[in-house]
Amino acid sequence: MDRLLITGGRKLEGTLAISGAKNAALPLIAATLLTGDTLELRNVPELADVVSMMRLVQRLGVASTYLPGEPGRVAFHCQELLSTTAPYDLVRKMRASVLVLGPLLARGGEAIVSMPGGCAIGTRPIDLHLSGMERLGAIIELSQGYVTARAPAGGLKGARIELTQPSVGATENLLMAAATAKGTTTIIGAAREPEIVDLALLLSSMGAAIEGAGTSTITIEGVAQLHGAVHSIMPDRIEAGTYVMAAGITGGRLHITGGDLGLLGGAREKLEEAGLQFTDTADGFAVSVASEGLRGTDVMTRPYPGFPTDLQAQFMALMCNAEGASMITETIFENRFMHVPELARMGAQITIHGGSALVRGQGARGTTLRGAPVMATDLRASVSLVLAALAAEGETEINRIYHLDRGYEHLEQKLQAVGACVERIP
Ligand code: UD1
Repeated sequence: MDRLLITGGRKLEGTLAISGAKNAALPLIAATLLTGDTLELRNVPELADVVSMMRLVQRLGVASTYLPGEPGRVAFHCQELLSTTAPYDLVRKMRASVLVLGPLLARGGEAIVSMPGGCAIGTRPIDLHLSGMERLGAIIELSQGYVTARAPAGGLKGARIELTQPSVGATENLLMAAATAKGTTTIIGAAREPEIVDLALLLSSMGAAIEGAGTSTITIEGVAQLHGAVHSIMPDRIEAGTYVMAAGITGGRLHITGGDLGLLGGAREKLEEAGLQFTDTADGFAVSVASEGLRGTDVMTRPYPGFPTDLQAQFMALMCNAEGASMITETIFENRFMHVPELARMGAQITIHGGSALVRGQGARGTTLRGAPVMATDLRASVSLVLAALAAEGETEINRIYHLDRGYEHLEQKLQAVGACVERIP
């Protein structure tokens, strides 16, 4: 298993390009099941999760080909569905596999999908996906760890669906299922994440009639058929936020290209409160630490446009080097503090009180983070250890970096190019 060796203490300086968004790419690849025409996606990031999703749709009948010209250009073609079953061996690797449920049900009238089960950051149920599909007329059965969903004889029918929680995955699954359902579907309480807007843009260019994506009420007027399209995947706002904090924790200055500051939503305000300053540039933005340094700042994770749960672990690492205390509260997923004991091994002073973590920042006295061998159990927790390591004194060895490969394209090359001392040891 590969490891990363990071020697900390170098300020990151230079230009860093943001890749296509993992969390947009995964639902977009699931959407390739919806048409018999060719779909071309651009800016597809080279990530383990993307490979897993491509493998899954291949099993279901999608042929995919990398196109020449620019990296990340992929043509997808699903002449016909070869199977309507998403098997356990593929789903267990990645929870987002459950996003094939809506497309399979819409195109094939049936979906048999392994239940994703628990994962490192909590139980993560799919009840909202399933009750939404039932509202569209699907008959759902659960047996032997699989969900079987069957569309009624005349196909799915538009309906009013209320989500009791703004689930990103459920909103995406329902958008894909409703695009070709008969009549009108209204999703009330929909998630508003930019990745949902990206999916709605793709579906619209395939011929779907969708209004309100990005707000909490989305209306879908079902169409008979979807056709081919070309779509460029949005930039990864979580990757951008992560590198913003890498600049912050090392006291450096980065020019982030291809990233969109607007996509950070409410996180921008919190990062500014914590002492980061942003300036817009022609092709992105620049970030550095204000002269007063990093300040302890409280955050609470919220659905978009609130502070994203996917940046919580990184923010906690940043706050270890701030002056003063920070209270970091996780409200989206239980059990998403797996990075805390590992950060503590590096000298961080963090105590957990229920869903909140109190971080005692050491900024004014210089970092107290010290290199150590660490490992992590999920993607964002792993990258928070990378941030801590970049700022720590001495060498940190990060184990189980397959988590990082799931979600950060060319992580060590990008960091090396802006001055970090990072090495991958096979
Ligand atoms: C997506 C993102 C993930 C991000 C999360 C929150 C992808 C591939 N993943 O995950 O990176 O951390 O949004 O922004 O895009 N819930 C239910 N029942 C359901 C579905 C969800 O109770 O049927 C709850 C979850 O337990 C959680 C909350 O709703 O508390 C939000 O989950 P959801 O938005 O669905 O997260 P994902 O789509 O899995």
